[in-house]
Amino acid sequence: MFIKYIDLPSVPEDLIPPIDSIINGKSYSRNDRSMFKCKEINPELEEWLKKSMPFEFYACVFQVMVGWLPIHVDTKNRMVAINYLLCQGGKNVFTNIYDNDKITVIESKNINLKQWHSIQTHKLHNVIGHDTTRISISVSPTDYEKFM
Ligand SMILES: [Fe+2]
Repeated sequence: MFIKYIDLPSVPEDLIPPIDSIINGKSYSRNDRSMFKCKEINPELEEWLKKSMPFEFYACVFQVMVGWLPIHVDTKNRMVAINYLLCQGGKNVFTNIYDNDKITVIESKNINLKQWHSIQTHKLHNVIGHDTTRISISVSPTDYEKFM
């Protein structure tokens, strides 16, 4: 399995900014595209993550996904993402993992709202089926091997 739920504490609701202010928040990088953006996380939430995640991480962002993502692997050394969905973007949204032929789906999951999970982002993957904005907290672990 390349997508797995992991048993980590739920994010306290009072640390999550209103959805509109996440969407309109400051961009984390200059690589934003219209369909996919990373936004800076608020300091209170970042502090909570540092305290509450039982692993080291080198980045944490809000991911804002407007369009369907093409099949891709994540950039450079992001082998694994630890994510927590704040908005699913619809009822029939699937995160798919593909074989190297970019056609054969080897795993397909409708990921639950507000449940921590790991995704092996070094495998070819995409997200399809959302008809509204999909938003997650995304944490990039330094020691990713324990999630593989
Ligand atoms: Fe990705």
